[in-house]
Parts: sequence; C-alpha cells; structure tokens
Amino acid sequence: MNLTSLPQGPAFHYEGDALCVEGVRVAELAREHGTPLFVYSHAAMLGALSAYQRGFAGRKARVFYALKANSSLAVLQVFARAGCGFDIVSGGELERVLAAGAQPADIIFSGVGKTRREMRRALELGIHCFNVESEPELDVLSAVATELGVRAPVSLRVNPDVNPLTHPYISTGLKGNKFGIAHKDALRAYQRAAALPGLRVVGIDCHIGSQITNVTPYLDAMDRILDLVTAIESAGIPIVHIDFGGGLGIVYNEEQPPAADALWQRLLAKLDARGFGDRQLMVEPGRSLVGNAGICVTEVLYLKPGEQKNFCIIDAAMNDLPRPAMYEAFHQIVPVQRRAGATTVYDVVGPVCESGDWIGRERALSAQPGEWLAVLSAGAYCMSMASNYNSRGRAAEVLVDGSKVHVIRERESIEDQLRGEKLLP
Ligand code: LLP
Repeated sequence: MNLTSLPQGPAFHYEGDALCVEGVRVAELAREHGTPLFVYSHAAMLGALSAYQRGFAGRKARVFYALKANSSLAVLQVFARAGCGFDIVSGGELERVLAAGAQPADIIFSGVGKTRREMRRALELGIHCFNVESEPELDVLSAVATELGVRAPVSLRVNPDVNPLTHPYISTGLKGNKFGIAHKDALRAYQRAAALPGLRVVGIDCHIGSQITNVTPYLDAMDRILDLVTAIESAGIPIVHIDFGGGLGIVYNEEQPPAADALWQRLLAKLDARGFGDRQLMVEPGRSLVGNAGICVTEVLYLKPGEQKNFCIIDAAMNDLPRPAMYEAFHQIVPVQRRAGATTVYDVVGPVCESGDWIGRERALSAQPGEWLAVLSAGAYCMSMASNYNSRGRAAEVLVDGSKVHVIRERESIEDQLRGEKLLP
C-alpha cells in the first residue's frame, strides 16, 4: 500500500489516494457525521506530549496543558489521563477541567483579568497556583483569600521584554503588551506579595508569545527570568518553581520550529550552566500539543469562477476556522480523495457574509461540488475560538483512536443556539 504522510505528522496520511486519520478513512467519517467536522487523532496528541516528556526525562518538570488551544472535554481527558496539569484562564475553563476529571491541585490559573468570584471558587477548590499578572491583582487576591481564611499560592507572571519574532497579535512578552508585570518592577512586586497576609509566594512564570519557531527568544527570556530569581531570592523570598509558559510553534506550511525535546535540550543546558537545573519546572504548551492533532473536514458547495479570482465555496467558515480572518493565518487544504486531473487556482471561502471569511488564498485544487476537503493543522485555536456568527451551529468533533471513532461533540442544533434567549412579552 502506498502510504504518504502529511507534514502534520504520520497519524494523518493517504492510503493510496484516500486521506486517513490513524486507521480510519476520513471520507467515511464525513459521510457518517456530516461536515464541517473536526477530526482529532489520539495518537498525535500523545505523540506531541511525549516530545515534552522525552525532553524532561529525569527532571522535576510538569506539563500544564493550556486548554485555550482546545478545551473540548474529551481532549482534556486525554491529557489528564496522560498525567498533565492544566493552565486555565477563566472560571469556565476551571469547570471544564474539573468536568474532565482533573484534580484542583493539577490546575494553575493565568490571565490578566481574574474576577473575585473566579478567585474565590479556585481558592475554595485549592488549585495549585495563581499566575498573577499585576500588582492590583495581588491586593485583590490577598483580600479574597483572607476572607476565606486561606493563603493563595502565587507565582508572578513577569514580562521579560523579549521579542518572540511572531505575529504581533500573539506576542505577549513585549513591553507594549498588556500581559505580566514589567521585568523592572518585578522585584518590588515580589516584595509586596511576600508582605501581603493572604498570599504565599511559590513561583515565577513568563509566557512570551505563541507560534514561536525560533529558540533564541526562549533562551533570552530564560536568562532574564533567572536573573530575577537570583535577585528575588537574595531579597529573602524563595522561589519554588519556575514556569516558562507555552508558545512553541508548529508546522502549518514551511515553518521549521524545533521539536519540544530539542528546544528543552537547549534550555536545560542553560539552566544547568546557570545552576538552576534541579528546580521544579513547569511549562504551559497549548498549540504544540493539539494543533497538528486535528483537521477540519468540509464539503465543497459551489465553484464560482470570476474575472479576477475563482472562488471555491465550502461549508466551513470563519466561525469554525477563525485564524485566517483574525491573523491571516495559513492552513493547508488537501482533498479527502486525491485524484489526477487539472487543477484550478481558487480562493477557498466560507458562506459567512464577510469578505474576511476566507480559509485559504490562491490554492490549486481539482475539487468539484460535493467533494470533501480537509483543512489541516486545525486542532488548536479553531474549535475553541468557534462562534455562532451568522447563527451557524458549531461543528461536530470526533476523536480517532486506532480504528475506533468517538463522537466527542455533537453538532450544535438550533435548539442549542436558542437556549437561554427570551422573547419580549
Ligand atoms: N500560557 C499563557 C499564559 C498563554 O497566554 C498562552 C497562549 C499559552 C500558555 C499557550 O500558548 P501556545 O503554546 O498555545 O502557543 N489564538 C491565537 C493564539 C493565542 C495564544 C494566547 N496565549 C492563534 O490562533 O494563533
């Protein structure tokens, strides 16, 4: 059998001309479950995680999956069963990870705008740690914890002011970003935290951006953070864990990001050289664990030749796949059934009433109406960012494990969409 792997990894491949996920033909999934349909590979998720686990072998290190990348319950269950903790950014994400079977002690809480109510719930449950992003947040968290008669475990998210060399919308560690406490103010903030009655300082963290394909910004951020750890500990405040955030990029097209184990080999060498090798380490990857573990299968509705452009209109849209519209992101688009024949260059667009509703530009395709296409690298920041714009129900999701297929989310019905809305009297 002629097997060809796609750049997104061996779990997604052609058997002959039929696109398969693990042991299952994608066409069968589309026929049975309809489109648009997200299809995930269990093996691809565990494979991505194992690159981190290899990188951290023999170290005191733990992966906290950043579920904003894909927060579907069964996906969380996969990572919980594999021993991951979770990085959350809202009360909603907190309830999701608990529903997926995680323990409060496996949860860290990031985000610039935690509400008192979210803090209270997380404190009552006893989460592992709060990643605090501003000095006013320290005061509020201390007050909420004091009311409850507990001390909140805190890590301060420091903005190391390094350029992650990625899209400006997903850079977070620069001076001009809203995230974290400025590097120059961090020591003062730690002293304030240590003096507050409701807090217990446990760590330090940073996160410099997303879809990072270069090792240098990580090395620079690590240097800046380790300098601070030295200064903070010299001021008498012990730092138990160091959290280096997430951000590692994946291959969408021709990017060449380091593998997680190769990245960590470089970073651990620096940690060792600087005498921090035996610290408790944490990371918060999202995209690199799930991005290339999912595709979105869509049907070609119409071909619309034009004077300037040809359009291939598909049944998935910016509400399902928001990344091209938001970041001009590139996702490969491939046929579910390959066939020989002439190709035409199309802009691949969805049915939503916006010119920004495009999924791929200038793609050579031989597809005909009624055939299926697969939008690749759609495991991260697609379903979790999906919306009901144009009153489109959100897509269904299936997870493939070998030859087994699990429906992990039903297609959203109109009843689901209307729930909670009220007509005027
Ligand atoms: N930790 C924190 C504090 C974060 O803000 C993020 C992502 C992560 C971890 C996980 O980063 P990752 O490993 O996934 O790069 N919607 C955008 C990406 C936004 C990332 C936001 N923060 C996209 O589709 O490209």
